[in-house]
Amino acid sequence: MDTPRKHNFFAGPAVLPVSVIKKAQEALWNFAGTGAGILEVSHRDKAFDAVLEGCKARAKRLYNVPEDYEVIFVQGGASMIMAMISMNFIHEGDKAQFIDTGTWASRAIKEAKRSKGNVEVLWSGKDINYTQLPDLSTLKFADDACLVHLCANNTIRGTEYPEFPKTKAPLFCDMSSDYFSRPINVKDFAFIYGGVQKNLGPAGCALCIVRKDLLARVPEHLSEMLSFRKYVEENSIYNTPPVFVIYMVDLAFQWLEEEIGGLENMHKINKEKAGLLYDVFDNSASFYRPTVTVKEHRSLMNITFRLPSEELETKILAEAKTHGFLGLKGHRSVGGLRASTYNACPTESVRLLSDFLVKFAKENR
Ligand SMILES: Cc1ncc(COP(=O)(O)O)c(C=O)c1O
Repeated sequence: MDTPRKHNFFAGPAVLPVSVIKKAQEALWNFAGTGAGILEVSHRDKAFDAVLEGCKARAKRLYNVPEDYEVIFVQGGASMIMAMISMNFIHEGDKAQFIDTGTWASRAIKEAKRSKGNVEVLWSGKDINYTQLPDLSTLKFADDACLVHLCANNTIRGTEYPEFPKTKAPLFCDMSSDYFSRPINVKDFAFIYGGVQKNLGPAGCALCIVRKDLLARVPEHLSEMLSFRKYVEENSIYNTPPVFVIYMVDLAFQWLEEEIGGLENMHKINKEKAGLLYDVFDNSASFYRPTVTVKEHRSLMNITFRLPSEELETKILAEAKTHGFLGLKGHRSVGGLRASTYNACPTESVRLLSDFLVKFAKENR
């Protein structure tokens, strides 16, 4: 408990707010005065019911979710949701449109291709190594598509949409790695989902925001464990839900509301943190090279960059470790470096990292 914590830049699971960790430690012993720990109480107990309802209510308040949407929790993470989207919403002969902005967007496409629908990739960044996002105004969104799918923030490539398209067809969005990091207009989307293990809690669960009219499209024959309609009908407790994960997400929402003061403030803080690092890169005379080529597409959450050589990258990673910076290695599929500056990553950690980067550049130029 008293061991100092390091500066955590892992891409997920990732840093959580200190107050959340402290409350969780207490709740492991005695949850809500029940005399039992949070890992030991029934999901049907009143005490957990209050957590589930509180968590849903906070999600709805933070994102200003309209009445005709429901919030559900599904085990299995974002990849599970990609598979379920394909089974629930893409039927024989349907046209489903996707934007391919890298690994996770590509995974959603791969899952959709298992359906009997016609999957159309509207744009792919593959040939340019996913270094930027498409110009949304040039894309041909079909009004009669069963869905249009995109990934808001590309965790591995470091791109993030500054804004979203307005589509007539239902817009589906994977928000795993920038969930609740900035205000959004939920009405622009029909279905939003994300694994919670980056901005909101531990791994093991996805939070989905579903426009209820979509549920009419869920096929009857689908296994109930895979049916979004069942999750809504049963208030996410058709079977035993990930009680602890939902508890932690609720604490993260409380932190966002009560300590941060909402998503406008969170966004401001996130811009400030990312700005500290991008400023270092932009003033480094190309010593640090952001992998994203269009400034407006730079992520506020996953800041990806390269150094002049792989030798220097190995050297900086080793030095960073000795300075207490964790998780700066880029994803194994792309190499380089990545600093994930999620909601709970303290500004002070980012400030210290930017000082370290400036010093390293001076000494190794
Ligand atoms: C944007 C995005 N989508 C999907 C996933 C996959 O999430 P999960 O591991 O919860 O299936 C990740 C994981 O890092 C991600 O960053």
